[in-house]
Amino acid sequence: VNKKRGRLSGTLKVRRSKALILHWNREELIFENFLLRRRISANALLADLLSELERFKTVDWIKRRFIGKSRVGWNSVLQSLLEQGILVEQHSAADRDEEVLTKNWKWNLPAQYFHFVTKDGTYRFDPEAEQREFQALAKKEQPPSPFKDYPERPFVKLPKKKLAGGDLGEVLLRRRTKRWFVNRQLSLDELSALLFYTWGMTASRKTSIDERILRTSPSGGCRHPIEVYALIHDVSGLNPGIYHYSVRRHGLELLVAKPIGADFVRFCSGQKWVENASVMFVMTALFERTMWRYRFPRAYRVVQIEAGHLGQTLQLAATALRVDSFITAALQDSLIERELGLDGIRESVVYCAAVGKTRNPNRRADIRPGAKLTRSKGRRVPTPE
Ligand SMILES: Cc1cc2nc3c(=O)[nH]c(=O)nc-3n(C[C@H](O)[C@H](O)[C@H](O)COP(=O)(O)O)c2cc1C
Repeated sequence: VNKKRGRLSGTLKVRRSKALILHWNREELIFENFLLRRRISANALLADLLSELERFKTVDWIKRRFIGKSRVGWNSVLQSLLEQGILVEQHSAADRDEEVLTKNWKWNLPAQYFHFVTKDGTYRFDPEAEQREFQALAKKEQPPSPFKDYPERPFVKLPKKKLAGGDLGEVLLRRRTKRWFVNRQLSLDELSALLFYTWGMTASRKTSIDERILRTSPSGGCRHPIEVYALIHDVSGLNPGIYHYSVRRHGLELLVAKPIGADFVRFCSGQKWVENASVMFVMTALFERTMWRYRFPRAYRVVQIEAGHLGQTLQLAATALRVDSFITAALQDSLIERELGLDGIRESVVYCAAVGKTRNPNRRADIRPGAKLTRSKGRRVPTPE
């Protein structure tokens, strides 16, 4: 760019950005560069121009092709397209960054867009101002409850059970993912302990704004968006079926009584090893809980991170109880949501875990904590994701 004269050289080469996404905000068509996090609104004619700029073309070419004799204002239009990152100048920093992006990111547009557009949140850590803000918000919009209840459904109260098992260091070292489940009945005490120590309420409090629960895992803004459903295949004293875990009452609400174990493999996208798990725990997110307080899309990351915390806690609780456990994100979300009677929009599946007893556990599961990993010469264990 010749800044002095403010005119673009006709030989300057430009192309459209590779980090571009188009969407509407009401009637406005938005052109957004998600790597630079810059956006403009323009009409659809700009999309026509950009369609022809997949590869570098000179400014002269653009002028001949699109502008003809009327040059009024076009110089500044092209300049602002460059400034906003809609167009990229050859050999510029933006050009180099986009090369790095396209060469290195094997996840395409949806992942790229979400990741880059939600980088660098703007936060203001002023507890008093925040308090005032949320108090005002709570008057306008009721904060979502941290409890989901199915009061009309048959209810099974669970026993409270202490998690007796080793010291934390020993449990941490013994934690392993184990996969090939065999039929084994889980006791109600074991199920109860797994649910309580992972998703149960360890404390609660009412603030002037809302009601909050605490768990063994942390939660951004104490919103606890994750719900859990226990899909019971084989637990003593329980009919097989789909249950919702009531955090409020530490018990199970029966949603559907039916054999469900045969569906585990389909739910987990064909992973045969989960077939005989005693229980599958489906974690869903009730997004509104986190959204109420954090309106910006970066908070979606928080929900996923929290599911991870809970997955780890479940595995540690299972290890302490000497119950085998498995976790997976390779899920048929919509299928599971239909089975659970969820709309998949306000509440959606995020993560699953299965527990029970495994045979021929993954060889690495057999090794002593701290032992060196060596390549197995025995039966090949399928490599999971
Ligand atoms: C988010 C996440 C998703 C996973 N998905 C699967 C899966 O779909 N299938 C599977 O067999 N294992 C899955 N695993 C388990 C990993 O394969 C396992 O954690 C890894 O091999 C390390 O073994 P370890 O858990 O015993 O330390 C997943 C783990 C995580 C954290």
